[in-house]
Amino acid sequence: MNIVHAAAEIHPLVKTGGLADVVAALPPALLRAGADARVIVPGYPAIMRALHAAHAVTEFGPRFNAPQVTLRYGRLEGVAVGAYVIDAPALYDRAGGPYDAADGWAYGDNLQRFALLGYAAAKLGAGADPLWRPDVVHAHDWHAGLAPAYMAADPANTAKSVFTIHNLAYQGNFWEGEFHKLGLPDAFMRPYGGMEFWRQVSFMKAGIVFGRRIGTVSPTYAREITTAEFGCSLDSVLRERAADLRGILNGIDTDLWNPVNDPHCAAAYDRTNLAGKHACKLALQREFGLEERKDALLFGVVTRLSHQKGLDLLLGALPTLLASGAQLVMLGAGDPQLEHGFRSAAQAHASRIGVRIGYDEGLAHRIVAGADSIMVPSRFEPCGLTQLYGLRYGTLPFVRRTGGLADSVDERVGFFCGPPETAIHETIKRAVTLHRDPDRWQTMMVEAMGREHDWSSSAQRYLQLYAE
Ligand code: ADP
Ligand code: GLC
Repeated sequence: MNIVHAAAEIHPLVKTGGLADVVAALPPALLRAGADARVIVPGYPAIMRALHAAHAVTEFGPRFNAPQVTLRYGRLEGVAVGAYVIDAPALYDRAGGPYDAADGWAYGDNLQRFALLGYAAAKLGAGADPLWRPDVVHAHDWHAGLAPAYMAADPANTAKSVFTIHNLAYQGNFWEGEFHKLGLPDAFMRPYGGMEFWRQVSFMKAGIVFGRRIGTVSPTYAREITTAEFGCSLDSVLRERAADLRGILNGIDTDLWNPVNDPHCAAAYDRTNLAGKHACKLALQREFGLEERKDALLFGVVTRLSHQKGLDLLLGALPTLLASGAQLVMLGAGDPQLEHGFRSAAQAHASRIGVRIGYDEGLAHRIVAGADSIMVPSRFEPCGLTQLYGLRYGTLPFVRRTGGLADSVDERVGFFCGPPETAIHETIKRAVTLHRDPDRWQTMMVEAMGREHDWSSSAQRYLQLYAE
């Protein structure tokens, strides 16, 4: 079976979050499971620079304001499967990020930029590459949400579509007056059975309505998004598609995230020899200028600073954390108010709280390895990868019971700080108390490190879904 994955991010070239990790790791897992998988991504500068041994597959005339679009196929540095790259400089050759310009504002033509991603992926399904044709076009998140729509609009397109929701809160909604730019049938722009969403064009809704199957990244989130509380106003649409909706928990890349030989870390360790973990903790305390204390429970955070992630709850609980004798290191970027809040806390308590604002892959690994507990107090979390990295490194997850956090953590390997938002205080105290008993803590670490979260079983579930 041939599967092409369409997405706006791919690790290690373009990443703003877990989507990039999944898009890099799932296709090779499908290869290992006996399928043939490729990816299709926009030709941002970082992608064009990393593209090697490529040939032009096909060209599309002027499309979506791009005078010329060349679809290339080749190898991307650091990516384990073959890649189609959409070479359209007018849309993708920009200095900023994948979605936003350097000044932080979204590009004014994101509608066109990501319509082209869906369009090109759909074209592959229709046979654009004479040498390779996908049976399934698997589109990820709103950026690729139009692939199922373009496929549904073309009766000659024999491939089947799967649409995975990584985060329902980011929907790709645009002014309804722009619909005509997409070249889709007018009938697609309706509220029932179409992609109209409160007088907007919704790429997310298009994926949900037109995808032959819909997936999301954990069983609990698959249930949650059919409720008004988590449904981001699309819950009724998702309830209608409930029979075709699947929740499949993400795996992690166990080569990239491996305490046995992590090049970013001060020392190596595994569940039979944890000495290296203590060395990683001391190195991390030193890196952040904290008191180098083995006995202090060191919490770690690696995150986007957004409302979703609940870091305001942690900020509010810092007095409790400090009073209980714990320490905290935080790496993150996003909401300026939260950045300011954490920076101020670190200035006021420099020996106990360390904060780095920014994005730093190596430091993310050192925090996951060196902390005793990784905090993910999210209000909602479709899957979450950092708690899975934590488990693998014996860094006990401290999470809220929601989405993929509820599906991957239990009391034998971690701590739940609610749903109730105030529960975080009590849970911090409970974790600190438990940490004073090194034997019990170590038992949990060893249990956590024994949990399997590689991609193999989830890849099998995706293959079953494709087979349907
Ligand atoms: P989300 O995709 O919602 O941000 P996930 O937990 O699925 O959440 O994935 C986040 C990914 O991004 C992880 O690989 C995490 O290590 C990484 N990450 C998040 N923030 C940072 C940061 N500031 N520096 C380095 N890596 C980060
Ligand atoms: C999204 C979600 C996160 C998930 C990731 C990869 O960014 O917020 O929970 O782990 O996608 O599926």
